[in-house]
Formats: sequence, C-alpha cells, structure tokens
Amino acid sequence: MSVRRRTLLKVIVLGDSGVGKTSLMNQYVHNKFSQQYKATIGADFVTKELQIDDKLVTLQIWDTAGQERFQSLGVAFYRGADCCVLVYDVNVMRSFDSLENWHDEFLKQVSSSPPSPNCSSSSVPVVVYANPADPKSFPFILLGNKIDVDGGNSRVVSEKKAKEWCAAKGNIPYFETSAKEDYNVDPAFLCIAKAALANE
Ligand code: GTP
Ligand code: MG
Repeated sequence: MSVRRRTLLKVIVLGDSGVGKTSLMNQYVHNKFSQQYKATIGADFVTKELQIDDKLVTLQIWDTAGQERFQSLGVAFYRGADCCVLVYDVNVMRSFDSLENWHDEFLKQVSSSPPSPNCSSSSVPVVVYANPADPKSFPFILLGNKIDVDGGNSRVVSEKKAKEWCAAKGNIPYFETSAKEDYNVDPAFLCIAKAALANE
C-alpha cells in the first residue's frame, strides 16, 4: 500500500515587538496586510503547504511575542524547531542590536530540549518531525523588514551591516522585506522552507 508522505517543518519567528513578524506571516499565508498593530500574546502558528522538488512539505510557522512581558510564554514552543527566522526593522537600531540576544537565547533553549517524537501510522499521512537541534549547524534566516518606510530614507541599519552580522554568525541567509508591499516575502519563506528541509 502506498502511503502519502508529507514532511512537517516547524519554523519559529523571533524578533523585537513591532518589527513585523505577524505581518510577514499574514502576508505570506493570507496575502493580507493591516496597518493596525495588535501585539501577539504567547505564540500561535499558521500552516502553509509547499511543494519543494518532489516533496510535499507543510510549513508550520510559529509566531511569537516580541513584547518582553509575553516572551516567556513563547519559549515553550521552540521545542522541535527545524529553522529559526529572526526579524528586525531596518528603521530601528535597537531591533537590530537585539538580534544577538534572540539568536543566543533561542539556541540555548532549543539545544536543551529533549528530542521530539517521530509519529507514523499506516492509516494517516506520515508526519515526520526533525531530530533535536544541533546548535552548531542550526539553520537561521534573517529578515530586515519595513524597507518601504519613507522610501528607504529612514533606515538606520545598512544592508552591509546586516550582512556582516550574518557572516559572523556562520553565513545566515539575509532578505530585505516589506510585509506591507509584499516585497521579497515569498522568496524569504521559500529559503526558510529549504533550510528547514535540509536540517531534517
Ligand atoms: P509583536 O507581536 O508585538 O511581537 O509585534 P510584531 O513583530 O508581530 O509586529 P506586527 O506584525 O504586529 O507589526 C507592527 C506594526 O508594523 C503594525 O502596525 C504593522 O502594520 C506595521 N508593519 C509591519 N510590517 C510592515 C512593513 O513591512 N512596512 C510597514 N510600513 N509597516 C509594517
Ligand atoms: Mg506579532
């Protein structure tokens, strides 16, 4: 009997409050953008199915809270992650400076988590979870968001500076995005999916 194989990839999105994590996900999954800010509390996920080469993958994208008072709630969801997306706002230096902390905290949490289970059954599609994270090779992607603001005149973090940070962290792929204008959102998430798949 042939069983349809599907790979579930768990992706965690992290970054300071207001950088546009929820907006990037909404644009990617629902093709919607709202100017209104509504803080994420704890963590929640959306899914999107993708075909990558001959594989059907389900991206499970976890949106977390950037606001400090809600952050501890998000940590519980890092377990079993296949890829971590870091987001900053190119117009806010502090959000760039925070990346170091998000990166290190994530690795600390995820490498201390026990392995996630492999679930399979002959009567339902097979869902395969990845192995526990290896901190040295764990895939990250960095997104510099809100590049549309003021036609780029209010940006304070240059592309060069962001790429240097990525290089120092072991060649993290970097994308500049606008959730508002749907700029580079699909390519960024495709890269994320491929990185997660490679880590499987
Ligand atoms: P927390 O949930 O608190 O962690 O914030 P967040 O990172 O999820 O930010 P969110 O997506 O809620 O966006 C914050 C604000 O920035 C909202 O008012 C969005 O409309 C706006 N915003 C998000 N992305 C963009 C963008 O690419 N360009 C512009 N101009 N505004 C954006
Ligand atoms: Mg949010």
